[in-house]
Amino acid sequence: MSQGFVFHSVKRLQVEQGAAARLGELAGTAGMRRVLLVSDRGVHNLGLLQPALASLEQHAVEVELFLDVEADPSAATVQAAAERARALKVSGVIGIGGGSPMDVAKLAALLAGGKQSLEALYGVDQASGPRLPLILMPTTAGTGSEVTPVAIVTTGEGEKKGVVSRWLLPDSALLDATLTTGLPPKGTAATGIDAMVHAIEAYTGVRLKNPMSDCLAREAMRLLSHNIERACSHGQDLAAREAMLFGASLAGMAFANSPVAAVHALAYPVGALFHVPHGLSNSLVLPAVLRYNTSHCAERYAELATLLPGNPAGADGLITWLTALPGRLGLPTRLSEVGITQADLPRLAEDAMKQTRLLVNNPRTLGYETTLALYQQVL
Ligand SMILES: NC(=O)c1ccc[n+]([C@@H]2O[C@H](COP(=O)([O-])OP(=O)(O)OC[C@H]3O[C@@H](n4cnc5c(N)ncnc54)[C@H](O)[C@@H]3O)[C@@H](O)[C@H]2O)c1
Ligand SMILES: [Fe+2]
Repeated sequence: MSQGFVFHSVKRLQVEQGAAARLGELAGTAGMRRVLLVSDRGVHNLGLLQPALASLEQHAVEVELFLDVEADPSAATVQAAAERARALKVSGVIGIGGGSPMDVAKLAALLAGGKQSLEALYGVDQASGPRLPLILMPTTAGTGSEVTPVAIVTTGEGEKKGVVSRWLLPDSALLDATLTTGLPPKGTAATGIDAMVHAIEAYTGVRLKNPMSDCLAREAMRLLSHNIERACSHGQDLAAREAMLFGASLAGMAFANSPVAAVHALAYPVGALFHVPHGLSNSLVLPAVLRYNTSHCAERYAELATLLPGNPAGADGLITWLTALPGRLGLPTRLSEVGITQADLPRLAEDAMKQTRLLVNNPRTLGYETTLALYQQVL
């Protein structure tokens, strides 16, 4: 090991099927007497909050529900959640859902616990804290938000901005695979590919990759690639669901320390401007970015290939397997299939160039013309 490194992660991770039914106990121990529970209507209507709500009631934890979270949450949504937390003087925040509600919960806890404005938080290490006690429970196996110091906000200008701060790591992350069995095949596929991209970008990052993030990224890649097809075709298979959920968290821990790169930089404008789900926007641009990067990280791609089902050989093996996967899982594979036209590509490329926080991690530098050409390849 030539260079030292520092690794940050979540203080407490609980992996347990049915853990939602014991949430009240944990919240009580954490001193939460009245909480803001952030989720979304989809998750609520599916009844996924029921075990948690019953347990919180049993432990006399007062709950205020905040369900107005849209996919790719806006700054206005974040402000509204924080305002509610402040007005009710809650003693903690719980986020249950995909990356969108978890990110809103994280920022609400930080904004209500401290004195800064949301605008002052954008960027890396801008938050001075403190934040309210925070518990997160994912219902998708994708973003890894439950273990990352990151929250993503869509601004009024249709731009995705990130807040990166250690204050955003929760006090506890709970992985309960029973919450994920109802996720439909396409949602499972898209969120699972997002998690794989986290593992790949953490493993090939040029700035902060380290032996710890490598271990996590490799195991994440193995678990995710071996279970994604089963989780899509047999949604009720709890073993496959738990492997996906755990794999997504491992990938989250990896990229929390060795951040994501060009796949996310190119995916963000697709999500922000065309309301394409985060996982799908990653999946659409992935093949082009992998091919572009391969000259600069072929060895690392080859190492990841050995972890895939059937152990395909070399960087080409990884790229071929990942390029075929979205189609096999029934996802669109071209930007044109989600309503994007030739005329939209310059705006996408311009916006991708603004993601400098991510582009600096990419193994190969890319400018506007190259980015435009990459979008063109997957149009
Ligand atoms: N904080 C981070 O580190 C990080 C990392 C990557 C992405 N993100 C952000 O996370 C967001 C995307 O999160 P996501 O992909 O998890 O999706 P999401 O949270 O936006 O949810 C998408 C849809 O899936 C539904 N859903 C969630 N769980 C379900 C379940 N178990 N069964 C059925 N339906 C369910 C929701 O109701 C919603 O309609 C984006 O805003 C993205 O930018 C954050
Ligand atoms: Fe992502």
